[in-house]
Amino acid sequence: MATKKMFLGEEFLPTRWYNLNADFPTPMPPPLHPGTGQPPGPEDFAPIFPMNLVEQEMTPDRWVDIPEEVLDIYRIWRPTPLYRADRLERALGAPVKIFFKNEGVSPAGSHKPNTAVAQAYYNKAFGVKRLVTETGAGQWGSALSFACQLFELECKVFMVRVSFEQKPYRRSMMATWGASCMPSPTDTTEAGRKILAADPDSPGSLGIAISEAVEEAVARDDARYSLGSVLNHVMLHQTVIGLEAKKQMEALGETPDVVVGCAGGGSNFAGLAFPFVADKVAGQQIQVIAAEPASCPTLTRGPYAYDFGDTNQTTPLLPMYTLGHDFVPAPIHAGGLRYHGMSPMVSHSVKTGLVEAQSYDQIRAFEAGVLFARTEGFISAPETCHAIAAVVQVARQAKEEGKERTILFNWSGHGLVDMAAYDAYLSGKLAPYQLPEEEIQRALAAIESLPKLG
Ligand SMILES: Cc1ncc(COP(=O)(O)O)c(C=O)c1O
Repeated sequence: MATKKMFLGEEFLPTRWYNLNADFPTPMPPPLHPGTGQPPGPEDFAPIFPMNLVEQEMTPDRWVDIPEEVLDIYRIWRPTPLYRADRLERALGAPVKIFFKNEGVSPAGSHKPNTAVAQAYYNKAFGVKRLVTETGAGQWGSALSFACQLFELECKVFMVRVSFEQKPYRRSMMATWGASCMPSPTDTTEAGRKILAADPDSPGSLGIAISEAVEEAVARDDARYSLGSVLNHVMLHQTVIGLEAKKQMEALGETPDVVVGCAGGGSNFAGLAFPFVADKVAGQQIQVIAAEPASCPTLTRGPYAYDFGDTNQTTPLLPMYTLGHDFVPAPIHAGGLRYHGMSPMVSHSVKTGLVEAQSYDQIRAFEAGVLFARTEGFISAPETCHAIAAVVQVARQAKEEGKERTILFNWSGHGLVDMAAYDAYLSGKLAPYQLPEEEIQRALAAIESLPKLG
């Protein structure tokens, strides 16, 4: 009988993170300072991030040591198990082997603590007392609340309003870990008031919540902002996932032909995929798929362009696939995938053909999530359901073509605090949603005057 799950002993916990930036065949375009049009220097980030993280953001080094204090906390749940989804394989009747990395075993229930713990550590080491952040589905906010509690930092979270209402238990988790959480847009920041003046019923978006969090963070000397995805150092921290998965696949004598992750800002996808993308750069045949929602199709329908990371235009200009910084995605249940942009590293990987992108509407995503729950037992986060939809698609195609495939995907989080979304799906209240082209064109007008990518 095939091994169902593969545990690694704590002695195999990676002690270094992997930086794909060192191995890109063509270098990534730099971010730009919106005022000067030049790449920003470390000092431009100083009011927002601690300098030790700014250095990590810009490092060309291939490997970065993981501090002992971070490893000590990782040991609470890492290494995470790698599972064989053999029951799903049988249900699909396709010539595929399916493996998944279970990141849902972390205290907050997703991959997010991998970077939350690292960011809290570096902020604490720099003398910061308070972290401010945004959260979509609440996974990131709860992960940072947990990490701040362990490092005795104060934590304030702006939670996208639609998720604040859909996922009340995420708020309870943040409160349990000692953080405070407000629905965004709020009337406590300039950025929030501006949005509310234009639309008092705004459902909020990650772009708006980021603007609020940055504004509050820069207002105090002892506070900094923390971002749960998109940036290079976040991709770096998440690579523990792929580094462990590689060891586990090797121990099972398996090599994936296809690697899949869902993509919101890109971090769980990058975390699993980048160590395998390194093999692809070195010449290995491997298909790497980023799965995104059809209602927020950044990689599949947005242009590759310079854009702000937030609605209020406070961040540097990032080279990325984007739907425009004022794009407000439909209030789908996968709140963590409602982001207008995409990690520059993931964007560059797509642009240079190392990674391909696919989009799935939320009905297909939940269909796949329910099939997974009914075969493998685990109830997936709505974001994760998008990755499962892509796995199902790869398996069906393999069946049609009669080709064997070994698929590895990132099970980025459990959905036990997202049951309202399953209720909506199971009672037929969810509608498929394809974003109209006019909506994309309208949002893209906001970036017309920004510098272009060559
Ligand atoms: C379970 C889960 N998966 C995926 C994501 C998407 O984010 P990212 O693309 O940064 O991994 C989120 C974001 O909140 C999430 O909670």
